[in-house]
Amino acid sequence: KDECFIAAESIFNGKFGNSGNIVVLEEKIQGPEVSVFALCDGEKYVLLPTAQDHKRLNENDKGPNTGGMGAYSPAPLLKEEDLNRITKEIIKPTINELNKKNIDYKGVIYFGLMITKSGPKVIEYNCRFGDPECQTIMPLMDKDFVFLLEKCSMGNLTGDEKIYPTDKVSGCVIATSKGYPHEYKTGFPIKIGKIDSSDCQIFDSGTASKNGKLITDGGRVLSIVCQDKDFDKVFEKAYKNLKEIYFDGIYFRNDIGYQVRENFYQDFFDAINLDEEFNLTAFYSGMLLGMASFLLNKLGQLSGKRQRQNWIILSRVFLFLAIDEIFQIHELFVIPELRQYVHPSLASIWVIPYAAIAAYFAIKFVPFFISQGRKMSQLSLASGVIYVTGAIGMEACN
Ligand code: GLY
Repeated sequence: KDECFIAAESIFNGKFGNSGNIVVLEEKIQGPEVSVFALCDGEKYVLLPTAQDHKRLNENDKGPNTGGMGAYSPAPLLKEEDLNRITKEIIKPTINELNKKNIDYKGVIYFGLMITKSGPKVIEYNCRFGDPECQTIMPLMDKDFVFLLEKCSMGNLTGDEKIYPTDKVSGCVIATSKGYPHEYKTGFPIKIGKIDSSDCQIFDSGTASKNGKLITDGGRVLSIVCQDKDFDKVFEKAYKNLKEIYFDGIYFRNDIGYQVRENFYQDFFDAINLDEEFNLTAFYSGMLLGMASFLLNKLGQLSGKRQRQNWIILSRVFLFLAIDEIFQIHELFVIPELRQYVHPSLASIWVIPYAAIAAYFAIKFVPFFISQGRKMSQLSLASGVIYVTGAIGMEACN
């Protein structure tokens, strides 16, 4: 509701000029969006491969709306029966209505749809291809596409034309200027390294040439598009190519096509490139803690019967910390980029192993300190307070 009020207010305050003088509020609908394209010769039409784009700026489809941060085609979300329903309920009625109004529409109609629980709904029509859907779909077409366009413009479509002649799929990632879709700077030199060009293309959008050099000249700067037999391969190639493209403030989403990438989580972890130094430090800390655990265990074996148990408990706590450090289990739950991929109900699950250690420590180890005299128990209480305060502070920062 709040978002709706904020949007309405900015529209009435002139965000879209005079177009915002009247605002019509319709039913609130929810669901994934898909783009369907019909090539229409005025009467007959053929459907192009479907596509899904990612309109939000940030990973996990969060952040402000953009023109599109990436796309993939075809959209497996739409099964044949869905397309039949869309054809019957949306595409045919639209073309019939154009005909009734004596509009001889020759060209592509872009149906921006939302697939809701009660079926597909139209969000927008466009008399054009989509961006970045167009650059995603076009490489899937073969040379006959030109003839198809010709037939379309001449009003000669049969409606039975074979339109998707390949078994490949396609994906696109957009590289933007820092700050887009709000304010951003342009004019930065673009360097392109070693690009794998087999079934990959780079399309310019916000670029210009200055003294023969390529520079940034817009919000959405380049589209990196690849095709292959599955989406994992497509995006592996696209992201590999992106690593070879440099300009000041380059930004792109690492999770384009997450819905259709089977290896998505592995790729994503690799791509976000967790600070390597930090990983190394954590790894060494893990090794040291592991060694400490080993020594404490040995100490337990050497000490008297009464103390043995306590040294062994302490060695297990150290062992857990070592495993945690080496595998960095907690990263998944405390690093914001990763945490967003954890289901909210699990977002605090990382507390459980720590709470388990604390409980284990309290039950088994505190009595040992107490048995060692007043000073030791005060020391253990103070360390406990410092540890818990530190943990709460860290969580608050996250
Ligand atoms: N990708 C959305 C559009 O072209 O309107």
